Amino acid sequence: MSKVGRRKFLSIATSVTSVIGGAFAVTPFILSFQPSKKAKALGASIKVDLSNLEPGSLIKVLYRGTPFYVVHRSDDMIAQLKTINSDLRDPDSELSIQPNFAKNELRSMKPKYLVVEGVCTHLGCAPIEKFSIAPADMGPDWRGGFYCPCHGSKFDLSGRVFSGVPAPSNLRIPPHRFENGSILVVGENSEDMNV
Ligand code: FES
Repeated sequence: MSKVGRRKFLSIATSVTSVIGGAFAVTPFILSFQPSKKAKALGASIKVDLSNLEPGSLIKVLYRGTPFYVVHRSDDMIAQLKTINSDLRDPDSELSIQPNFAKNELRSMKPKYLVVEGVCTHLGCAPIEKFSIAPADMGPDWRGGFYCPCHGSKFDLSGRVFSGVPAPSNLRIPPHRFENGSILVVGENSEDMNV
C-alpha cells in the first residue's frame, strides 16, 4: 500500500458549498465522525454519513490538516465529464494516484460520489470548487470542476487535470469504501492503490 493508502483520517472540517446548474445552493450537512479516542490513537479510519449531501454539493474532510473533498455529483455533472476527455492530460488516470477501482473516467467506486484529495499536484495549494458551467471567471468552455488559485491549474469533476497547466497529474484519490450505500469509510480500501 502507498503512503496515501496508509493515511488515516483524524478530523472533519465543516466547509460545505453547493452549486447546481449554475445556481448556488448551500446544503446543510450533518457530520458523522465515529472513531473512539482509542481508535483515533491507532489511526483508525473514519465514517462519514453522506445521506444528507445533496446532488451538486461538496463537503471537505480533513486528515492531519490535509483536506479531502467529497462531491455528490448530479446526473448533469456526470454527463459533462464525457465531453472534455480531449482537453485532459491523463483522462484514463494512467499516470495518477488512485485506488485501482478509481482508474477510470469517473474515478470513483460509486459514480455519484467523488472522493478526492484537495491538494493540487503542482505545489500543494488547495483547489477551489468551480461547479458552475461557463462562469465569467472560468470562460465559456468550463464544464465544472476545480481551480487552483496559486498557479492556475484546472481539474474536472473527477479531479482530472487539464492539459497546459502546471499540475502534472490528476488529484489523488484516497483509499475509501462505502457501507450501507451512503456511509463513506475513509482510510480503508478493499483494493491496492495504483501508484
Ligand atoms: S499549486 Fe496548484 S497550480 Fe501551482
